[in-house]
Amino acid sequence: MTKPKVFIARPVPKKVEEFVAEYCEYKKWDHDEKISKDELIENLVDVEGLLTVGTSIDEEILSRSPKLKVVSNISVGYDNFDIEAMRKNGVIGTNTPFVLNETVSDLVMALIISTARRITQMDQYVKQGRWKNEIGSDLFGADVNHATLGLIGMGRIGKCVARKAKLGFDMNVLYYNRNRRPDVENELEVEYSDFDDLLKKSDFISVMVPYNRDTYHMIDYREFDLMKESAIFINASRGQTVNERALIDALNDKKIFAAGLDVYEKEPVEGNNPILEMCNVITLPHIGSATKKTRFDMAMLAAENLTAAVLGKVPPNVVPELRDL
Ligand code: DGY
Repeated sequence: MTKPKVFIARPVPKKVEEFVAEYCEYKKWDHDEKISKDELIENLVDVEGLLTVGTSIDEEILSRSPKLKVVSNISVGYDNFDIEAMRKNGVIGTNTPFVLNETVSDLVMALIISTARRITQMDQYVKQGRWKNEIGSDLFGADVNHATLGLIGMGRIGKCVARKAKLGFDMNVLYYNRNRRPDVENELEVEYSDFDDLLKKSDFISVMVPYNRDTYHMIDYREFDLMKESAIFINASRGQTVNERALIDALNDKKIFAAGLDVYEKEPVEGNNPILEMCNVITLPHIGSATKKTRFDMAMLAAENLTAAVLGKVPPNVVPELRDL
């Protein structure tokens, strides 16, 4: 029996490739740099499945890939999918939920602690041969324990952050979410809050929502104006949920105290982005899920989604907007 053809557009671990090979005939892009759109289109002409990360899947790609049935993302976020175009072309999209919850929430906690205690800044001090007697009280940090954490969004990763903040640091956790989560409120004793109140009361504010039409720039000038001057702003979700110019202005105007970022409006961050000059901003290169184990698990789950779809089965993780296709 002939195997369905698929294209792997990002390097994946050997074991994942071997898994795909069991069920599919495959071609792969084996370079660290991203594949160009033209090369991608060339490789999709005769395949039924695409395994990728973050590639914009638009009408042009879909209309030129007549056999394509599935785009399998190696990520939980799927803001790279043009959902309307995928519906129109009858192509399903899958993602990798669950397997990265703990790893991404670890990173959110790391950003909270590092910004509060100026970890990266103090690390530089020691490496420059300086010591703590040079540190005036203006460089003292802020306490994480017992502080108020405001979570904007209470999905799977938000819930993991809430648990770590609550049980590990005895933080007072507020959350705002489209739908109230009585299950999480009961389990973790977190408190639902009105959006503006959360911004006004929180010492740490972390954006935990996916990026879509509704969440574009949900944190803008108005929202930074509501925050405390001592507030620390964290974003490890998607850069486009925040108006980055408003964040830069809020930091420059000392409307907030610091920020911890894993994501940006434009990635990679441009070299002239003023954020890179700010010692009270921790800048990470979108590594929320980047541990060996989790990245392996994500690639394997994406491979399972891909093979299921091209073999005519229902993949375990079709994104909600495309489940009825
Ligand atoms: C995700 O899975 O969406 C993470 O941001 C990694 O891209």
